Amino acid sequence: ASQSSLTIGGNTYPSDSWTNAPQSIIAQYDRRLHVQPNHPLSITRRLIESCFPGFQHHNDLPGVVSVDQNFDSLGFAADHPGRARSDTYYINKDTLFRTHTTAHEVEVFRANTSNGYTIAADVYRRDAVDRTHYPIFHQMEGALTWDKSQFESNDHFLHQLQTDLKNFKSPSIEVQDPNPPFHKESNPLQEKYHSAIEAELIGAHLKRNLENMAVTLFREADKALKASGQEAVLEDKDPLKMRWVEAFFPHTSPSWELEVWWRGDWLEVLGCGVIDQPLLIRAGVPTRMGWAFGLGLERLAMLLFGIPDIRLFWSKDARFLNQFDESKPIRRFQPFSKYPAAPRDVAFWLPKAGPVVAETPATTSSSPSPAGGNATEPTLSETPTFHENDLMEVVRGTAGDSVEDVTCIDNFTHPKTGRQSLCYRVTYRSLEKTLTNEEANTMHEQIRQELVSRFGVELR
Ligand code: PHE
Repeated sequence: ASQSSLTIGGNTYPSDSWTNAPQSIIAQYDRRLHVQPNHPLSITRRLIESCFPGFQHHNDLPGVVSVDQNFDSLGFAADHPGRARSDTYYINKDTLFRTHTTAHEVEVFRANTSNGYTIAADVYRRDAVDRTHYPIFHQMEGALTWDKSQFESNDHFLHQLQTDLKNFKSPSIEVQDPNPPFHKESNPLQEKYHSAIEAELIGAHLKRNLENMAVTLFREADKALKASGQEAVLEDKDPLKMRWVEAFFPHTSPSWELEVWWRGDWLEVLGCGVIDQPLLIRAGVPTRMGWAFGLGLERLAMLLFGIPDIRLFWSKDARFLNQFDESKPIRRFQPFSKYPAAPRDVAFWLPKAGPVVAETPATTSSSPSPAGGNATEPTLSETPTFHENDLMEVVRGTAGDSVEDVTCIDNFTHPKTGRQSLCYRVTYRSLEKTLTNEEANTMHEQIRQELVSRFGVELR
């Protein structure tokens, strides 16, 4: 980004040395897929909203936020890897494309217009190119708070809550929850702010609500499978299986992830926890306490509708869009013809770490948190001037949605010179048409040349 300002959604922002948001991202800023009538992401959002009656639903919060909103106000450490320019799209050093819906927690708590709310929105992360990752995806967040006084002095309230929680569990689900409600080292209670019974009740209320939501979603998915004549996954007599796993988020404690057993695998569905009390204090509501969760809509929509490639959500092709109808029960997606793949390899030597200053921090362990549906695996970043996500972006910027997958197929360091060589396989395949050899070659050559001009690699 060499221009001195960026215009996004009608606003202009000065750029600086932090700017790394490409035009390809800015151009898609106004799609708002999660509120398009009959779009599968919108249908999934509405299904989740229906699990939280009485909550206020926010679906229009703008995606450009401050670093303070996205990280500082949520207690993210100064060196948290999620802040890295290799993982996050910065507009300038103070402004970015939100990486999660949690960026709005403080402002929504501050407005305090209801006890419970959901937020659905587009979020942005630099990431791999494959069938389950796209640099823009959608998250949904939910939270519920109570006034502390309700817990402190009101035996009737406590008794009622405990009874409600006992009655909550549906007999047809099997829930594994082997860990204690909180644990001094692995999942601490916020001792300074919450009593043991408060943390326990909030945690239990959170878990029962989310189990309930998961049952709703997975039963819908199962019904859709049955209706399409495929073998249903959940036998009528077989319980739906899920489990709670301890987790960490800067903005909740204790924290968990919910996993559901689906087609032979444990599938991570969401992250959640007891809201960090300093966050509520910062929001000006120090007497409130409660729970929050966040999930990735694409992953759930792919599962509900059987959508095989995340790029399809962005398709304007009627053969895709006309398959979904929010007034009808969920139906499985019927793939239209799959066009042939055109794989091309690119191999290159990385430049020796020269005088160029490293932009990626030393740690690369994970993105802000794993609950997005865009969970980030640790990636290659030993070389200061080149991060794997830079290559991903060159590919997206050049070939856009014509690329299905980018995989590193070779990585070696020359024993004598110490130079590192990488080889990536770029799989070209459009969702809409057959790419000619020539089209694939042209895009590939452009990508090769950009790698040279932007990162100084030496092609092999
Ligand atoms: N912000 C977390 C993420 O992006 C999800 C989350 C939201 C976890 C709210 C806990 C509470 O993965």
